[in-house]
Amino acid sequence: MTTAANLLTDNPELYEARFPDPDRLAGRWTEDCLRRYGAGPRVLDMGCGTGRDAAHLHAAGRRVTGADLSEAMLAHARAHHPGPAYVRADLHGFDLGRGAFDAVVCLDSALLYCHTNDQLDGFLTSCRQALAPGGLLVAEMRNGAYFLGRTDLLDTPKLNSFTWRGTQYRSTTTLTVDRTAQLLRRVRTWTADDGSAPVEQRSAWRLLFPQELRYVLAAHGFEVLALYDGPGPRTEPPWHEGQLPGATTDADRLHVVARLTTPH
Ligand SMILES: C[S@@+](CC[C@H](N)C(=O)[O-])C[C@H]1O[C@@H](n2cnc3c(N)ncnc32)[C@H](O)[C@@H]1O
Repeated sequence: MTTAANLLTDNPELYEARFPDPDRLAGRWTEDCLRRYGAGPRVLDMGCGTGRDAAHLHAAGRRVTGADLSEAMLAHARAHHPGPAYVRADLHGFDLGRGAFDAVVCLDSALLYCHTNDQLDGFLTSCRQALAPGGLLVAEMRNGAYFLGRTDLLDTPKLNSFTWRGTQYRSTTTLTVDRTAQLLRRVRTWTADDGSAPVEQRSAWRLLFPQELRYVLAAHGFEVLALYDGPGPRTEPPWHEGQLPGATTDADRLHVVARLTTPH
């Protein structure tokens, strides 16, 4: 067994094959949020990954910068999803220009790569600096509160298989709760039918709770405009145009829209 820092982020094409979004649901949901709350045109997509969502927002008429830590993701985004500017930046602390953006978006749990309180403070301090007064933060992620009293996602490993470029890949994913670090830890083992050695990939997300998120956003000068579990681009059933935000924070995804009311 070999280990990989992150098999999917090292292989952006594999990432898009494993998590297809042919209807650009995540991008459309984000654009809907930006319009609903009247965001200006300049958007920063932090943790932009393959650039799919950044490119969708660009096509919708926004001036977009996609930022990610992975050079492989950025190279893929520049080649396959042109339009936005793509830059390397760490969401734990970045400086892409004071007041340079009208919105920061952070999709598919990228915000939860802030594992510690210091990293979360670093992210929100950077967002506060990057946003113009009244700017928006739009984020979509797992909901830590889902794991209070529920073990269905922890009890049995999740098996998945898909074919990419003639090779069949199988993954086994195990999730565990690390209560001390307040992290959801993931171990994913990949096998491929091309004779290559199995690969083990480890990652973790912060288990962030809705009221904790409210508290930290307020501490950084943000007013929460919406905080809800669905509908969203990764909920079941998924969001569709015209649907309004819900009012509960019970299910396994969390969506937040917050406005910077107290700039530095
Ligand atoms: C689950 S992907 C989400 C990608 C994209 N937002 C989407 O919704 O398809 C998480 C992304 O966050 C990036 N990432 C992880 N840690 C990061 C960090 N500290 N700073 C910036 N990006 C990071 C990864 O490289 C990866 O592209």
